[in-house]
Amino acid sequence: MITRKTPAELEKMRAAGLLVHRVLKSLEEMVVEGVTTWELEVAAERMIRGAGARPAFKNYFVQAVGQRYKFVLCTSVNDEIVHGMPSQRCMLKRGDIVSIDTGVELNGFFGDSAITVPVGEISPQVKKLLTITLESLEQAITQVRPGNRLFDVCGTVERCVTDAGFTVVREFVGHGIGSQLHEDPQVPNYVDRKNENPRLKEGMVLAIEPMVNAGKPENYVGSDRWTARTKDGSYSAHFEHCVAVTANGPWVLTRP
Ligand code: MF3
Ligand code: CO
Repeated sequence: MITRKTPAELEKMRAAGLLVHRVLKSLEEMVVEGVTTWELEVAAERMIRGAGARPAFKNYFVQAVGQRYKFVLCTSVNDEIVHGMPSQRCMLKRGDIVSIDTGVELNGFFGDSAITVPVGEISPQVKKLLTITLESLEQAITQVRPGNRLFDVCGTVERCVTDAGFTVVREFVGHGIGSQLHEDPQVPNYVDRKNENPRLKEGMVLAIEPMVNAGKPENYVGSDRWTARTKDGSYSAHFEHCVAVTANGPWVLTRP
């Protein structure tokens, strides 16, 4: 069931969204050669709790893994696609990319967003990967309006990515969001004809999160049971925003 939020509920989601934005902006500034993903984790938890919110990912039970996630952030480096875990042993170096994904619960509502950040100079091909992944999200956001359908959003991500010669990950998807971190509907980064194609209505909120590989789309999950990596070792990028359907079109809750 897809829940529709009242204007008052959307304002609460807006507050959560802006907090996530603020946290990611600060973390982006911390990303320099030599910083560890653990330092990002510690800073994020301090900011989120300092704002009177709760980190949404920490202790979140993920059905597919059968475990609770232990961290505030997912920090996925280079060929890691999602669910990379912050670690004191993971020091970023020049030429890396790190995707930072986090969520908060504030006053009963969730915000969830991700960015992928380059560490110093990166190669032109990786730069293009980041540009296209972000572009696919921006184009998908423009599709979020009453009367459009879910597949308009999913198909826009897919087309933008594949037109550029990159591939979308199929096993991890975006989602509805509200008083739960993950709500209906699933928001794949491709048109999944096995799914329903509901019409978008005012008050729905989608977390759109393209995960894009520079090479082949296949992934594997390693022995830590969480970190998903590209099978071919190619780099992967991830951006995410929460977007509300309003009469005036898309409202991106996770940026000012
Ligand atoms: N990027 C995922 C999402 O947006 C991360 C949440 S799952 C958790 O749904 F393991 F981190 F909790
Ligand atoms: Co999400």
